[in-house]
Amino acid sequence: MIDSQLVSPRVGAAAGHLTLDGHDLVALARAHGTPLFVFSEARLRGNARRFRQAAEAGHPRALVCYASKACSNLAVLAAVRDEGLGVEVNSGGELYKALAAGVVPDRIVFNGVAKTVAEIGEAIGRGIKAINVDSPFELRRIGETARAMGRRAEVALRLVPGVEGGATPGIRTGGSDSKFGMMPEDLPEARAIAAEFADAVEVIGLHCHIGSQVADAGAFRDGTRFMARQAREIGAWLGRPLRHVNLGGGYPVRYVHGDAAGLGAFDAAEDAAAMVGRVAAEAAQELGPDVELLFEPGRAIVGDAAVLLTTVENIKHRGAQPWLFLDAGYHTLIDSAAVRWYFHMVTANRVGQAEAPFRVVGPLCDSADCFFDVEGEHLYDALRQSRPDDDGLEAAVVRLPRHRGLAAATAPGDIVALLDVGAYALEQMFPYCGRRRAGAVMLRRAGDVAWIRRPDTVEDLVRDDVPAA
Ligand SMILES: Cc1ncc(COP(=O)(O)O)c(C=O)c1O
Repeated sequence: MIDSQLVSPRVGAAAGHLTLDGHDLVALARAHGTPLFVFSEARLRGNARRFRQAAEAGHPRALVCYASKACSNLAVLAAVRDEGLGVEVNSGGELYKALAAGVVPDRIVFNGVAKTVAEIGEAIGRGIKAINVDSPFELRRIGETARAMGRRAEVALRLVPGVEGGATPGIRTGGSDSKFGMMPEDLPEARAIAAEFADAVEVIGLHCHIGSQVADAGAFRDGTRFMARQAREIGAWLGRPLRHVNLGGGYPVRYVHGDAAGLGAFDAAEDAAAMVGRVAAEAAQELGPDVELLFEPGRAIVGDAAVLLTTVENIKHRGAQPWLFLDAGYHTLIDSAAVRWYFHMVTANRVGQAEAPFRVVGPLCDSADCFFDVEGEHLYDALRQSRPDDDGLEAAVVRLPRHRGLAAATAPGDIVALLDVGAYALEQMFPYCGRRRAGAVMLRRAGDVAWIRRPDTVEDLVRDDVPAA
């Protein structure tokens, strides 16, 4: 029997083993080794297609540019390209990868807060759709670069809409204290620079991005209205309408399965495609059908398209619960430590068995390498003395559950799967503590299993070191 409290709608179970697209994940882990990322091509393409179709249904001229920072593996980029999406890049490296995956330049937009002259030159030379300008200083840099190349760069101005969206402070980008984009008061200077470089820069669009894992539809609505007002004003000073308005990404994924108590930031009441359909329809009303509308979803396309398979390598009985030691820690899944992100866990070879609570940690020589909020728990213990009557204190300072419900018999040798790990993981791995970065396979629609990232070898650990003479 499958415990529906535990098992994601994207994964299933057969004979007590977790499955994805009909593949036995325990057998996959044993055959390929762990830690192992497993991507579902069907889920990835389905997410991309449904998002694009919903945006197009809301607005006749919608272009969805997948935010490649979420996962820029070449197989992932090729799949979203095949589904009719463009790509958003955030560096010369991501531009290189998008081109390597066969994305055509006029479907690529380039963001970034510190673009180098070389990156700007590459973007202009390739003829991408737009460079999103982050500051007046950068606009001048683009103008000078384009002029020196004898080219005219097409740019969109990135604006800060003053709208807060996103699950945690580290992924909110739309408020006036964020490091991104231009404030309305920067616009007169940008306008003067655009006039000075009229031969080398053409302002064709506006851009904003309010944050990631934005579950509040109201934040998108406020952002859209702000952008519509700005598009009218900037169109007036340009003396012509803008060609496009880019409303960014930030659409959410459901990380919570079963009991969501206290984990609301990681939940999403509404499906990303339904949300973007409404945002696009609202933008069509505000801006009219002629202005092209761009979106940059990352997480919503790839987040729930992958699971991470890990092996339990050790167990200790300390305190009230057993502690399980996985072979994947924050070197494999940095967001678990950096922003205390919640990833649901299931013992893949014991699905349906009775559960018990466990403390779950990673293999690194570092107490922060754990899947609970070690910093928040210590802060709570310190503050509790002085605020004994504050019932909301724990929820305010401890972001993650202290324990995970896993099959009570979970033991070394078992496979623990972490769900919804497709976004902001693969390219953020690093070989700390001499731990090799994990490999990734894709479950192809054709039914086969293909490596899309080979696991590190021990030789990789020393490849870039220059031996002492
Ligand atoms: C400019 C920009 N666009 C799009 C995204 C993608 O956001 P998400 O993955 O939440 O959709 C990001 C992520 O931070 C971003 O900075």
